[in-house]
Amino acid sequence: MGRTDMPQTADWTRVVTHATVATCAPSPAPYGLSENSAVALAGERIAWVGPATELPAVGDGVEVIDAAGALLTPGLIDCHTHLVFAGNRAQEFELRQQGASYEQIARSGGGILATVTATREASEEQLLALALQRARVLMAEGITCVEIKSGYGLDLESELKLLRIARRVGLELPLAVHATLLAAHTCPPEFSGRADDYIDLVVRTILPAAAEAGLVDSVDAFCERIAFSPTQVRRLFDAARRLDIPVRLHAEQLSNLHGAELAAGMGALSADHLEYLDEAGAAAMARSGTVAVLLPGAFYYLGETRRPPVELLRRECVPIAIGSDFNPGSSPLLSLRLAMNMACTLFGLTPEEALCGVTRNAARALGTLEERGTIEVGKLADLVLWDTSHPAELAAEFGTASPSRIYRAGQLLG
Ligand code: NIG
Ligand code: FE
Repeated sequence: MGRTDMPQTADWTRVVTHATVATCAPSPAPYGLSENSAVALAGERIAWVGPATELPAVGDGVEVIDAAGALLTPGLIDCHTHLVFAGNRAQEFELRQQGASYEQIARSGGGILATVTATREASEEQLLALALQRARVLMAEGITCVEIKSGYGLDLESELKLLRIARRVGLELPLAVHATLLAAHTCPPEFSGRADDYIDLVVRTILPAAAEAGLVDSVDAFCERIAFSPTQVRRLFDAARRLDIPVRLHAEQLSNLHGAELAAGMGALSADHLEYLDEAGAAAMARSGTVAVLLPGAFYYLGETRRPPVELLRRECVPIAIGSDFNPGSSPLLSLRLAMNMACTLFGLTPEEALCGVTRNAARALGTLEERGTIEVGKLADLVLWDTSHPAELAAEFGTASPSRIYRAGQLLG
């Protein structure tokens, strides 16, 4: 029998039926929710989505999972992490509790640079072990795709080391990894007072070498008074664009340098943090389809009071994503579920916005929406079956509602 004569179900491998499916795809129904639904998998892809009552008969070889009403969502995506580093910054937490600010600590040589020192001293194997441990914690929450930034190396060898580790995490675990070069995180001590020279090194040496080694899925920078100016960021982004590598930016976290507008004007996938975003910035992001990645963990941990302008983002129809921003200095929270909850309690997002912020819009922030982020035919079967039936619970609570089954590209994780 020729392939075209084969029944539609011939290549199906698994069916999850009687599920409450939140597709997270654009839909008149909140969350794209439908009860008593079924999703069929053909190998690593989603082959069919519809009401359980319309599910075609399947052959004996197809595994049928009766979800008994449980919730099925896309795998969660943490689109902003700094997962690879050594050491911790608990002493800075003490200093901040005694009144020092994040900026003051950074200016006196602590902050990111303290982690750079610890990370440069650590071996690749030590750093890999730490990163794997952290990635497993995220995976247990239902994360099937994670973005991992470099940025605690700040020299050629160390940045390459961190990016290699990011890639190795994706090879050693059933987890999709998007590797981001964040060499422009802050100016390293050997370039103190010579930020332009350091950007030269990144543009001429670090970025081309990392790209040549196939280690860069996107380029990021920290645009802030304590890091790099918009002019310096533009030079880096020009270089990334010449290599056809997408860009993203830490923008408007502590002040408004109009970084989001700059990033959007250069077609950035995302602008992240955004507490100080203004109307022009939001309008520019809307025009370019740049995703607003909100990071409530850093807002919470640094005791910030200025919230990102969520109402403005909604009005401008800027897609909103949420990341954990897991890092030792400003967001030592290894939980995307907690970040979802904080996005609701601290920034006023709805639970639906929070879930779409770690699925569809997070996929968009990583330029991978065609492959991930919603339950739709043709996409990768990255799916989570939860021990709850209502999607609001995923943002309303944390430490509850756990995944009962996780599929990564059609394979059950065990
Ligand atoms: O996303 N804002 C810059 N980078 C990190 C903080 C890194 C650190 O303090 O180590 C962030 O919040
Ligand atoms: Fe960050």
